[in-house]
Amino acid sequence: AFTGVMAEATADVATMDAEAFRLHWLGRKQGRLKTISEAWLKSAPAEARKPLGIRFNQLKQQIEAALEAPVAATAQVRGIDITLPGAVRAPGVEHPLLKTMHEIVQVFNHLGFGTNTGPQVETDFYNFEALNFPPNHPARDTQDTLIIADQQSKPARERLLMRTHTSPVQIRTMVEQAPPIRIVIPGKVHRNDAADATHSPIFHQVEGLCVDTNITFSDLKGTLDHAMKALFGSAVKTRFFPSFFPFTEPSADVQISCIFCGGKGCRKCKHSGWIELLGCGMVDPAVFAAVNEQRALAGETSPAYDPAKISGFAFGMGVERIAMIQHGVSDIGHFYSGDMRFLEQFA
Ligand code: PHE
Repeated sequence: AFTGVMAEATADVATMDAEAFRLHWLGRKQGRLKTISEAWLKSAPAEARKPLGIRFNQLKQQIEAALEAPVAATAQVRGIDITLPGAVRAPGVEHPLLKTMHEIVQVFNHLGFGTNTGPQVETDFYNFEALNFPPNHPARDTQDTLIIADQQSKPARERLLMRTHTSPVQIRTMVEQAPPIRIVIPGKVHRNDAADATHSPIFHQVEGLCVDTNITFSDLKGTLDHAMKALFGSAVKTRFFPSFFPFTEPSADVQISCIFCGGKGCRKCKHSGWIELLGCGMVDPAVFAAVNEQRALAGETSPAYDPAKISGFAFGMGVERIAMIQHGVSDIGHFYSGDMRFLEQFA
């Protein structure tokens, strides 16, 4: 009978709040122990009362002990060794890639750029055609583009693929909104590239688009120069080189002075003192034309993107590349490994 009472008390210790337990079991007037002992003592023969009283005192001590050390009691019941060190659960933190991506977005948000996103499964129209890629442009090559299977029965522009860049969201934004536009577009992009130390078939970009009256190449240079200083430190310099993208004209590649050697030349910048970081340019009028065509199809009557009245700039940067430079990471694979020894360095 005593064992039964003790088992009941042990079960209550595990489920009840300590204060409620104390009241329920050890309460001076109505406590369970008090009532049980009274009932038993009353019905016991006189000579059994003394040993019974002693036994009840032991039980009371046992129950009090169970209350004092509930963890130990439960552990004992379950056969757990509570002297073993506990498993540490590290609090979750933002992944270094997302951290860099949010940092980039924030730099532009502070300049008045909003944020937009778009789908990773995209149509040929938004990923290529509206961005002025000629039908047989090498960037459309299946070498680079991961296409969705069994789309041959659809018109070319409706065929689905994994977006190869965030630029299609430029088009989606302009089709939906009239100028002025100031927007950044963070997101995942996909390319049929072999993985190596600097390439991954899935990576991240942040796109930028600014369209308004009187937007010039100087605005583009000033904006990106500010952004690079915000991301890499105020001592960083930028320089712009002629480049080519079908959807910008003129186009440029942007380099920053090497943050590892301050521009003097080192192994990281192949002794040039400069690191190439992103692509940009002025929005090509052919892009505005594709946007206007799409807006007309959607029933929008005003030709809101009139190249005679407005102009714009766009840019696109790789998040992995920027994060690698920021943190001196030499292999892109670390970002996707889930290896705590790598990730903990950013906690
Ligand atoms: N979309 C281009 C790329 O992925 C980058 C870019 C964006 C260039 C916007 C110019 C303007 O390479």
